Amino acid sequence: MMAEKRVQCPQCKNIQAIPGASGEVIVVTCPVCGFQGKVVFPPLDQKTIPVIQLKQLTKAYGRFTAVDHLNLTVYKGETYGLLGPNGSGKTTTIKVLCGLLSPTAGQAMILGQRVPCKTLMQKIGYMPQETALYLDNTVHENLAFFAGIYSMTHDQFLSQEQTMLRFVDLERWRDALVSTLSGGMRHRLSLACALLHEPDVVFLDEPTVGVDPELRATFWGFFHALSAKGCTVVITTHYMDEADRCGRVGLLRNGRLIAEGSPQDLKLQTGTTSLEDAFMRLGGRKMV
Ligand SMILES: Nc1ncnc2c1ncn2[C@@H]1O[C@H](COP(=O)(O)OP(=O)(O)O)[C@@H](O)[C@H]1O
Ligand SMILES: [Mg+2]
Repeated sequence: MMAEKRVQCPQCKNIQAIPGASGEVIVVTCPVCGFQGKVVFPPLDQKTIPVIQLKQLTKAYGRFTAVDHLNLTVYKGETYGLLGPNGSGKTTTIKVLCGLLSPTAGQAMILGQRVPCKTLMQKIGYMPQETALYLDNTVHENLAFFAGIYSMTHDQFLSQEQTMLRFVDLERWRDALVSTLSGGMRHRLSLACALLHEPDVVFLDEPTVGVDPELRATFWGFFHALSAKGCTVVITTHYMDEADRCGRVGLLRNGRLIAEGSPQDLKLQTGTTSLEDAFMRLGGRKMV
């Protein structure tokens, strides 16, 4: 697969684009200062299998277009960050992908199937921006409810419940009413509900808003563990330090994708040292 890498000369800082194929190691000479170095194009791996494909995806609420001809591809095992200030269309995009809203135009495909699609539900996990838990029910009952939605068998549920409760460190709270849990615990439960059925793709809409720094670090540990297992993780955030932890990010403004790439590439491209500055250079607005 042919690709292009923008590389910066470590000596004179000149940036040049180098074409290459997967698995190739190319010796590059800087055209400005003559410095010689190697550019590595990583071999083909699972991160080249497209899992989510948006083609000209558009979603309008009445006459207002919230998502505007969005084209993007997310690959298997990626941690892809959808970034953008409030109102830029992140939640709308996620809701279309989860089949909760129908596109106005264009199309969205997940695992080769066009959304909305009922059979995809079992392969997708969704953690909404506002936690959707039943406060008057126990942790176990909430998980059981989601197991029902995902058509899990009783045995599957029981074994996965244990795994997930251990994963989010809520084992001791299985029989507690959700109303008695702290905000952080509810967030962890919400994540467990989204992951209970071992989805191939998971959509996390601002999963760390209102979460303390320690729990945020824990969550990022979860997300990276998921993608290491081959799960494709799409996460929306307006925290720049979090965006820096994504493999690739797409910057949204007014429902349009204004830039995309790895955090490192975007900084290199704009000659900046922070993703926030890169975003501003690329025509973004302040995140909050
Ligand atoms: N149900 C709705 N009806 C009308 N407008 C909406 C609705 N939901 C969202 N919007 C508008 O669409 C735009 C994008 O919203 P949203 O997708 O929630 O953005 P984000 O998640 O990036 O904050 C905003 O201007 C918002 O006010
Ligand atoms: Mg939102």
